[in-house]
Amino acid sequence: MKQKTWIGIGAFVGLAALAISSCESGNIGGGNKLTTPKLPSKAFDYETVETALMGSLNVKHLLFGKVANTGFFPNQQGEVDADMKDAASSFSSAGAQLGRVLFYDKRMSLNNTVSCGSCHHQALAFSDRMMVSTGFGGKTTKRNSMSMNNPVTFNNLFWDSRAKSTMDLSLRPVFDHIEMGMESDEMLEKKLALESYYGPLFKEAFGTEEITRKRIAMAITHFLSSMISMNSKHDNVMAGKAQFTTLEKMGREIFFSNRANCSKCHAGDNFSAPDDPGGSYGAPTVAGTANVGLDKNYADNGKGNGKFRIPSLRNVELTGPYMHDGRFATLEAVVDHYSKGIQAHPHLDANLKMLNGQPMRMNFSSEEKDALVAFLRTLTDYTFVTDQKYSDPFAN
Ligand code: HEC
Ligand code: HEC
Repeated sequence: MKQKTWIGIGAFVGLAALAISSCESGNIGGGNKLTTPKLPSKAFDYETVETALMGSLNVKHLLFGKVANTGFFPNQQGEVDADMKDAASSFSSAGAQLGRVLFYDKRMSLNNTVSCGSCHHQALAFSDRMMVSTGFGGKTTKRNSMSMNNPVTFNNLFWDSRAKSTMDLSLRPVFDHIEMGMESDEMLEKKLALESYYGPLFKEAFGTEEITRKRIAMAITHFLSSMISMNSKHDNVMAGKAQFTTLEKMGREIFFSNRANCSKCHAGDNFSAPDDPGGSYGAPTVAGTANVGLDKNYADNGKGNGKFRIPSLRNVELTGPYMHDGRFATLEAVVDHYSKGIQAHPHLDANLKMLNGQPMRMNFSSEEKDALVAFLRTLTDYTFVTDQKYSDPFAN
């Protein structure tokens, strides 16, 4: 079993809610077109996740491993994250169930039009098929919505790695003036308190009915932490339970070859930045980002100098369009970029340069491109994107 390098978990779901929701401007408050959540009589088990790759995982232990700065995901800054510690100690299936409701509740936005699930659909591994997404007031986000693959294991979330944990991240979209537009903690807390279903859900999760910003953040973190995706075909092959086709095998060889270098950046079990505090992508100032030569001049410089988060490739088949700005519609187009489109940017990553400093030209044949794409498709986890426990409770 590999240790340490795997980084991803989870996903949410939210199909139906999306299709209907959009950007009409609505009233603030209880909204009459809104439905109430339908939940199982006993919360689903969010604590134990069966994975092909690593057997049975305990989500609470994963959270504690993160807090203790050991295990699979040492914190790059070497700090213990106090908020994550509180989230770990309070973790329960009831907390994750509350998080599921909050994730899909449009009441979390200023005008009841948008929930997290509006931009993060389970069937798409919690991405949204759009180049950029539309927020509560009809304005669009600056960047492409991201999928969720084992978010508990990341120390660097968002395209520019600006959030260090799911606790750090979880309320940012709620108060973002494009995404969900809530104006204050008090407004959020009061608004949720108007709904009779929240009192009992908070009580079950945290012991009393009190609704606080911190509890909201912790419940969302509980839900996000339960999103573990480790049942793809690739995981099954690694576990000796399935076999690659000849084409998939060829693609995997290219992916891990020095000719393509894909695995230097898309590394470990999450096919994301190698989470190594000592390595070039794990260093604190770099935070798992790289410049892949998309442009000579970037309109959006990401973390700086055109560097963006090295995204997890788990479920990548479902998460197009691709890159931070959604510029590539298909995986074939992404592979074409690496094959012959890399631009000579002064900060182009060394893994995409030849010895003379020029951008690499991998010049894949059409069979090689097909093989790489076939390999990338083995990273899709159909269990994860259909599991009811991540689905929209307002939709059924
Ligand atoms: C209007 C669309 C929209 C809404 C609503 C929204 N998101 Fe996002 N989400 C995005 C976009 C766009 C990004 C990438 C932003 C960036 O990198 O600057 C993102 C990124 C993320 C990530 C980072 C994943 C990673 O691997 O780094 C997480 C986690 C996330 N969102 C969770 C949430 C949660 C939880 C909510 C609700 C509280 C939410 N989002 C609401 C659009 C949205
Ligand atoms: C130098 C590090 C590096 C190397 C080498 C690299 N990638 Fe990437 N990859 C990235 C970064 C960073 C992004 C996001 C870039 C952006 O949005 O500006 C990315 C994006 C992607 C995406 C889009 C994912 C999404 O969710 O939008 C795919 C697919 C991908 N890479 C596949 C590959 C393949 C296949 C190879 C080898 C041919 C490869 N990468 C080599 C760093 C790298």
